[in-house]
Amino acid sequence: MNRFFATFPAGTYDIIVRDLKSYRLDELVIVENDDSSVVFDSRLSVEKIIEIRYFTNAYLVIERPEDVEAELIKDKYYSVAMLKDGTPAKIEARERAQIENQIEDALGLENNTHRSRNNFVVIERASGARFLTLRLARARFKREKLSAGELRPELAHVLCLAARIKAKHRVLDMFAGHGAIPLETVRGFGCRDVVAVDKRFIETRHEHAAISWLTADACSLSSFEDGSIDRVVTDPPWGMYEAEIADLDALYAGFSREAARVLKPDGFLVVLTGYDDAARSFEATEKLKPVAEWPILVSGMKARILKFQKTR
Ligand SMILES: C[S@@+](CC[C@H](N)C(=O)[O-])C[C@H]1O[C@@H](n2cnc3c(N)ncnc32)[C@H](O)[C@@H]1O
Repeated sequence: MNRFFATFPAGTYDIIVRDLKSYRLDELVIVENDDSSVVFDSRLSVEKIIEIRYFTNAYLVIERPEDVEAELIKDKYYSVAMLKDGTPAKIEARERAQIENQIEDALGLENNTHRSRNNFVVIERASGARFLTLRLARARFKREKLSAGELRPELAHVLCLAARIKAKHRVLDMFAGHGAIPLETVRGFGCRDVVAVDKRFIETRHEHAAISWLTADACSLSSFEDGSIDRVVTDPPWGMYEAEIADLDALYAGFSREAARVLKPDGFLVVLTGYDDAARSFEATEKLKPVAEWPILVSGMKARILKFQKTR
């Protein structure tokens, strides 16, 4: 068993914990958590850990630098940093010197913060727990370049987990933008029938055989039959997109009415929004029952994940 520390979108532990607990106990055991990180023991390989789709960063906890497997060391340079309760902090000089000596003696590395690809990080948790880690490389799909305004795949995955998406579901994103959510339903959940709507045609949008793109207004989806969609997962305008919209209340009321119409009975609508008055528009929509709400942070901005269920 190795011990790992991993971060995920702030505020979403209640959503991801269901997935973490779905691993067998001999594969993964949670040691402690807060609302943006988790410490766990696991027999899974480092490759498998970094592929866990909602982890934004993952770290291997190391007792002694000499225990680090050779294939995890990438070149001859290293750096040491500290994260205290999730925020970069200064390491006291004596402790830094001690850690640096250990790393240099055990692994023969050279200290060079700028060139280092071996990043050692002292993690200090609010619980008081403190340990040395090696930051693991991010999986390739988490390193792909994002377009302006595009959601990170880790957060798109969390939204899909909140919606309990399964491969067999027909999924709709009514404000798809570049298509981060539709792409994650395909890559992360194996969905084969995904509809992505946006009022604009965006050239850099993600194209995929399983995704049908439609340029349309989310408040008027006449080409969709009533009760034809299993899940609506969407990120409507808020933050940098709010300025483009003349009447945000009317937009939210309009799309929630359409979501309620196209969803199958018992289907879920999951909405990511930083618009404070969003709830008002959903209240007015019959047939959408609020079932959960999670306050989260998106790039430091306050937002919420709202989950509704279509009533019968
Ligand atoms: C917050 S962004 C979505 C970003 C997206 N999640 C991504 O990862 O790229 C909101 C999107 O809603 C679109 N939009 C605004 N009003 C709309 C409407 N009435 N119907 C459909 N799309 C609309 C905008 O063009 C924008 O792409």
